[in-house]
Amino acid sequence: MNDIIALYGGTFNPPHVGHVRFAEEFVRLVRPKRFFVIPDFRPPHKEMDDRSPSPIDRLEMCRLAFGHIAEISDFEISNERTSYTIDTLRHFKMLFSEDKLMFLIGDDMLRGFKRWYLYREILSLCTLAVANRNELSKEELERYANELREQGGEVIILDFDARVISSTEVREGEMSGKVPNEVLNFIRERGLYMSYDLEKLRALVPSRRLAHTLGVEKAAVVLMERHFPALSENEVRAAAILHDVTKYYSVDEHIALCDSEGEKLRRSERKNKRVLHQITGSVVARQMGMSDNVCRAIRYHTTGRKKMSDIEKIILFADYIEENRDYEGLVEIRENYETLLASGDVDALDKAIVFALDTTIKEVISRGEVIHPDTIDARNYLIENISV
Ligand SMILES: [Fe+2]
Ligand SMILES: [Fe+2]
Repeated sequence: MNDIIALYGGTFNPPHVGHVRFAEEFVRLVRPKRFFVIPDFRPPHKEMDDRSPSPIDRLEMCRLAFGHIAEISDFEISNERTSYTIDTLRHFKMLFSEDKLMFLIGDDMLRGFKRWYLYREILSLCTLAVANRNELSKEELERYANELREQGGEVIILDFDARVISSTEVREGEMSGKVPNEVLNFIRERGLYMSYDLEKLRALVPSRRLAHTLGVEKAAVVLMERHFPALSENEVRAAAILHDVTKYYSVDEHIALCDSEGEKLRRSERKNKRVLHQITGSVVARQMGMSDNVCRAIRYHTTGRKKMSDIEKIILFADYIEENRDYEGLVEIRENYETLLASGDVDALDKAIVFALDTTIKEVISRGEVIHPDTIDARNYLIENISV
């Protein structure tokens, strides 16, 4: 243990095994007193990929990737502006004035280091710890390091034997094996880095379901913008487009698909097309490579369930209110929502969903049919969790 406070900044879009191995190797060699991983809000000289996750998602991915070895700082992200290394160093210098700051960079960053904003001050505030990943020739590396040393900088080179991985390569290829498993699960769970060809998806919708489907898509986007603007619009649209994709399967087709996928069905579900089409719709979506978010939104779009996610709520409710619908109770469901919305109620959507589910439940009772337990769970859970 020594008095080194180590800082490892980057965009971490996403954090991959190359980053993690570097961090681990660094800790093993240097044994810093504290070690901070600091994802940036927005890097100074780099355009972010359009599909980049939100800074909050990148922060969470850093927790998952480096949590075992480092503290994750939200200093740059919470500043919500272009992140300059010098600001971060000044901040940490203030926090740890008695200690020695060390800043970790990859060898490729050494090449353009003299273009960094206030690089001389950076050198005066910290030691640069450079991971030698053989991206530069030995001579180049030495030359760049010496140039900085001549200006009074302290530069140490850590030989680091690992295959170089770039985040771009990770984003564009198969991620498994290249990002830690916890990060991969998070990416899949949240549907990050995905973008779907919506025109292709729309072409799969049965023609007599198209008007309704496009209505759901439109309503879903409105609901998203109103209630959950941080959701991925691409995913919301994909879920809406595919939600009824198996609507016209026969019962036998539904059952065959469920059986072949090992989907266990309750007895009452085996003849209920309302329930079957949401299950097979999600199976088809999964086979098409849709994210878990999208598949689950389809999976529960008629029954709902306890603890629905934001996108699940949106697809379920858009299906109730889209502009082409016509069924008994529709006007009341729409009016109830509009009234809640106009009153500024923070739970407007949840309350509107409860009202809509109640309408369905009453209707199912009037037909003498089984109320799906997930619908009861959805309703009860929402009511219990609406703030009073
Ligand atoms: Fe449906
Ligand atoms: Fe529908």
